[in-house]
Amino acid sequence: MRIVLVGPPGAGKGTQATRLAEKLRIPHISTGDLFRANISRQTELGKLAKSYIDAGNLVPDEVTIAMAKDRMAQPDAEGGFLLDGFPRNVSQAEALDELLKSEGIKLDAVLDLEAPEDEVVKRIAGRRVCRKDSAHVFHVTYSPPKQDGVCDLCGGELYQRNDDSEETVRTRLEVYHTQTEPIIGYYRAQGLVVTISATGPVDEVTGRALEALKSGQ
Ligand code: AP5
Ligand code: ZN
Repeated sequence: MRIVLVGPPGAGKGTQATRLAEKLRIPHISTGDLFRANISRQTELGKLAKSYIDAGNLVPDEVTIAMAKDRMAQPDAEGGFLLDGFPRNVSQAEALDELLKSEGIKLDAVLDLEAPEDEVVKRIAGRRVCRKDSAHVFHVTYSPPKQDGVCDLCGGELYQRNDDSEETVRTRLEVYHTQTEPIIGYYRAQGLVVTISATGPVDEVTGRALEALKSGQ
């Protein structure tokens, strides 16, 4: 399957993508994670992306699209993929369409995760991420690690993302509404959007997502 995951910051895209990718046996491709890996390796791309990410703004399309294309061209993405955080505006969606068209393939669904703003703000404020593996995500209240500041899964240090400050979250939400939400209309016109509520326990949301992807609604 080829799926795009969309939803506001903190809706649980990364959390759900990890589970869905495993169940559907497709790679989870997160442009946010790819940027953060470049930042921690201090690559040129990471240096460029950091200032945009820390301010809560989108990284310029040119570098983002090139990075996403490069990742989608890896052998493990041949049979399908779950895109998390890409595309994030209409020009990225058009670039993705072009790429898929040139390869004679199509998206199967755009999964839209809906969550109220006060809930996503709470989720982001309490999020803690593992330094060793960005798929290891905790929440101080909703899914606390057994030991404060230590990843249950690998013993890595848990940290709070730079862009999870209250002020930056406000910018990220605004960017979501003005730049990312329009892609839902873009994909709705192609009949690809399935919307689910992302509230409630993580497993319930995963179940809802799998059901919606199966039935296409
Ligand atoms: P990115 O990393 O994609 O961030 P985001 O879209 O803001 O989403 P988040 O990672 O904040 O949230 P999430 O929805 O994945 O939630 P999570 O599962 O962690 O992008 C970061 C930045 O990179 C962007 O701002 C931009 O600068 C740049 N960027 C990335 N892609 C780009 C692109 N295409 N173009 C340009 N720039 C780009 O969950 C959040 C918390 O809630 C966790 O603590 C989790 O444990 C908890 N939680 C999850 N589900 C539940 C639940 N059901 N109940 C209770 N708690 C839950
Ligand atoms: Zn870990």
